[in-house]
Amino acid sequence: LRLGVMASGEGSNFEALVNAARAGGLAAEMALLVVNNRGCGAQVRAERLGVPCRLLDHREQPSREALDRALIEAFRQAAVDLVVMAGWMRIVTPTLIQAFPDRLVNIHPSLLPSFRGMDAVGQALAAGVKLSGCTVHLVSEAVDAGRILVQAAVPVLPGDSHAQLAARIRRQEHRILPLGVRLAARDLDRALGVEGQ
Ligand code: GRF
Repeated sequence: LRLGVMASGEGSNFEALVNAARAGGLAAEMALLVVNNRGCGAQVRAERLGVPCRLLDHREQPSREALDRALIEAFRQAAVDLVVMAGWMRIVTPTLIQAFPDRLVNIHPSLLPSFRGMDAVGQALAAGVKLSGCTVHLVSEAVDAGRILVQAAVPVLPGDSHAQLAARIRRQEHRILPLGVRLAARDLDRALGVEGQ
């Protein structure tokens, strides 16, 4: 199974996926990373890890749909079967979601359905919750909705700063994203009727 990843920032989730795939934890290979910010951490990590990386700068695309069409073309050329949004900071359009039905996976830093959208960590702190966490889910047309694949919970400790809670969640993200991708890939194989490919 060939994986494509989309990232906009540091890329620590991308690297966790590469490590899981190379350790044999995923019956999948990392085919292509696409970033939208030149020189972002994910791009630097891809170069260090030897993963092909394409820059599709959203600032150079006339619309969200145009960016998504460019993403689809890049992943088609790399024969990607499953796409993972690992810190992709742009809203994707139905164009992309429909091109990858049940084949687009996202990681979100809260226990969905709580705290959808931007700054889920800040939302959790503001709400004063005692537990937060992260969610791996299939992407559907509503933002941060779609079938939940895996979740992990972390305590929110008294006096937690945004950075401290984000880091505690991030450690769990690196653990559950590979699990979620494995589940999505297994469901894909079952749907395609090719067990244990
Ligand atoms: C993660 O917190 C993820 O949940 C959110 O964006 C962040 C990406 O972090 N979608 P990184 O770029 O993978 O380090």
